[in-house]
Amino acid sequence: MDHRPRFHFSAPRHWLNDPNGIVWWRGRWHLHYQHNPHAARWGDIHWGHASSDDLLHWHDEPIALAPSAGADEDGCFSGSIAIVDGRPLACYTGLRGGAQSQCFAVGDDDLRQWTKEPGRTIAEPPEGVAREDFRDPWIFRAGGWWYLAVGASAGQARGQVLLYRSADARDWHYRHPLFTAPTLSHGVMWECPNFFPLGERWVLTVSVWPRLGAHWFVGRFDDERFVPETEGVLDPDGGAFAHLAAPAPDGRMLQWAWIDEQRDASAVEADGWAGALSVPHELSLDTCGRLLRRPAAEIARLREAPADLRPADPASALQAPPLAGAPLVSAGAGTTHVFSGRCLDLEVEFRLRDRRPCGLVLAASPDGAEQTRIVFLPEARRLLIERARSSTDPAASRQNVWIFHERDEAEPLRLRVLLDHSVLEVQADERSSLSTRLYPARPDSVHGRVFADGPAQVSARGWTMRTALPGRVAGAQAPANA
Ligand code: FRU
Repeated sequence: MDHRPRFHFSAPRHWLNDPNGIVWWRGRWHLHYQHNPHAARWGDIHWGHASSDDLLHWHDEPIALAPSAGADEDGCFSGSIAIVDGRPLACYTGLRGGAQSQCFAVGDDDLRQWTKEPGRTIAEPPEGVAREDFRDPWIFRAGGWWYLAVGASAGQARGQVLLYRSADARDWHYRHPLFTAPTLSHGVMWECPNFFPLGERWVLTVSVWPRLGAHWFVGRFDDERFVPETEGVLDPDGGAFAHLAAPAPDGRMLQWAWIDEQRDASAVEADGWAGALSVPHELSLDTCGRLLRRPAAEIARLREAPADLRPADPASALQAPPLAGAPLVSAGAGTTHVFSGRCLDLEVEFRLRDRRPCGLVLAASPDGAEQTRIVFLPEARRLLIERARSSTDPAASRQNVWIFHERDEAEPLRLRVLLDHSVLEVQADERSSLSTRLYPARPDSVHGRVFADGPAQVSARGWTMRTALPGRVAGAQAPANA
């Protein structure tokens, strides 16, 4: 089975992890990503590069940053890009031995040549931070200064973001922690901090090592310290990780994340490619100061044709034969709509009249032996993706992913679902996100239905999606990286 996504970005071949340094520069989007150009497994990390003029269709570019003798000789880890004095400046973590330092490179007009600037390197972490817990610089501007926010672990006990300041983005001075994990449940080591203004507030996002999920905080930037006011889970369980934000020229703040493979390493390597990025999401705040995310408006341009979402005959749907395998969290009774496809954009709205579960079944075989379910459990206030039967392939993970979803019961529940072959992104009320991978083994695992176990008014719309990255589809020649 071909599990390559059609409109989510993946590397032309081999390994991809975090998005890095996404920037709009001279009329084009430039996307960089953690990349092993030699194998579909993590290691020998470079910065891969692709560019686009519409956020949808990506053109593969030569590798941007490669390890070389010096501070980054064992890897060019994650980082960010800003335009400093009219030139793109890449800030990234260099790896040498186990030690991490913050490195800098200046880009040319097409971002095809980068000149490393060893003179700017921040070689040592501040006291109390280990050299292996010092990575992922995020560059930002405030109050006439350049700042770097760097991911760290305070005393190998609490996630922390370190703050550096510079007048010229050349000569950096450590100030103090921008923010430290308030509780152990926020994580011991924070990777990929992003810190940016949104409306009247500042947003901090961090990812918890080892791949435990990501948090958002919204608050103020006061006296060079972050003071949070609201917080939440950005993505649980490491389903989407290493989120990276980038301002669009029209003022929107966009955000991408890495969606890792969820099957045995041998199965991944045999396919020759690994890892996908989320679609870009637009960020905003609600009136309570909570972070909202929705797929960027551009994604709708890939809608090809209405998905054939047919209202189901409730009587016949209720008589559907019981499904094989382990019991599922909800009966999945009360089918309201049926559809089919493996490359879909769906919008479903439930007005529930009781607290029984509702949701969608996707990528199901006609006998139900393979199926993935998105279920909302109103009593438990949980949204979950149930993968117990996602695939008959033993190499595929069966672990469920879930997130608490608090909601006003007077309001309808709105689900947005992007299914792109093995990539699944779900958002509830633009507030709670789940991302995961599924690998159905059967070619007839294309069926879907919308259900509500109890009485509910359900409306559903959907579209089949166009392929934005035709070169990635099986059979097409993958372009070689330079
Ligand atoms: C996050 C991360 C970063 C690091 C990079 C290495 O997934 O571990 O902290 O810079 O990946 O590839």
